[in-house]
Amino acid sequence: VSGFVAVVGAGPGDPDLLTLRAVRLLDEADLILYDALVSPDMRRLAPRGRWFFVGKRAGRPGIGQDAIHRLLVRAARRGLRVVRLKGGDPFVFGRGGEEALALAAAGVPFEVVPGVSAAIAAPALAGIPVTHRGLASGFVVVSGHAESAFRPILDSLEPHAATIVVLMGLASRAQLVSVLLARGWAPGTPAAILHAASSPEATAWIGTVGALATATLPEMLSDAPGTIVVGRVVSLANTISAARTVPESRLAAGRGR
Ligand SMILES: C[S@@+](CC[C@H](N)C(=O)[O-])C[C@H]1O[C@@H](n2cnc3c(N)ncnc32)[C@H](O)[C@@H]1O
Repeated sequence: VSGFVAVVGAGPGDPDLLTLRAVRLLDEADLILYDALVSPDMRRLAPRGRWFFVGKRAGRPGIGQDAIHRLLVRAARRGLRVVRLKGGDPFVFGRGGEEALALAAAGVPFEVVPGVSAAIAAPALAGIPVTHRGLASGFVVVSGHAESAFRPILDSLEPHAATIVVLMGLASRAQLVSVLLARGWAPGTPAAILHAASSPEATAWIGTVGALATATLPEMLSDAPGTIVVGRVVSLANTISAARTVPESRLAAGRGR
């Protein structure tokens, strides 16, 4: 038997937001290498597979990207069906591209299964359409990890021309705000911080760019992933999320499934 690797997007957390292809591959997998943002609820979808954690936890470094590449290649060569399960979409700030390149270089058969990215899902679940006729005709997704990563992109953008979605940006909120204000964004521009989207713990802070840096967030959320959204579309959040028929009750019912 020849093994192979599927680099699979797990979506924002709720197993209901996995693709059918992801579910099928999990069902057939011998080995699942997963990251910190992958929901433990997904385990029941891989009844035969062994789960192996390769992410970072509580800020401590993980096993390293090269070690992950070696594990993937070795497992596939041993004939295993491997799922490399990554939060959201594997090619959006997930280093999935590096893993695909390593598999290609090693001659290991692999496929890539896109996932629902938090960049779109976190706003959507809070009632924020990232594009909306008359409010935003595009959206830009940036890494908030370091100012050097987002400043050149935000500097090149006309204020209010697009919705800005920032992943990994909670710690650098203050720099983000000063870059936006310096570029000419109005302090009153609507902004949101969306935590743990699609999980029962999901919360949404809705405010303005001016208040974004100093927003106090519940202590319990300090470890939860958060996405920042800036732009006029955020003004739709209250109306859309208040009018939705399905959400919270269904999330609560999903607990412990
Ligand atoms: C390393 S990036 C990976 C992004 C992922 N590949 C994707 O497409 O969603 C992790 C960041 O995604 C965002 N994120 C992931 N899951 C989230 C969720 N359930 N709710 C809010 N933000 C989330 C946070 O900004 C977090 O810091």
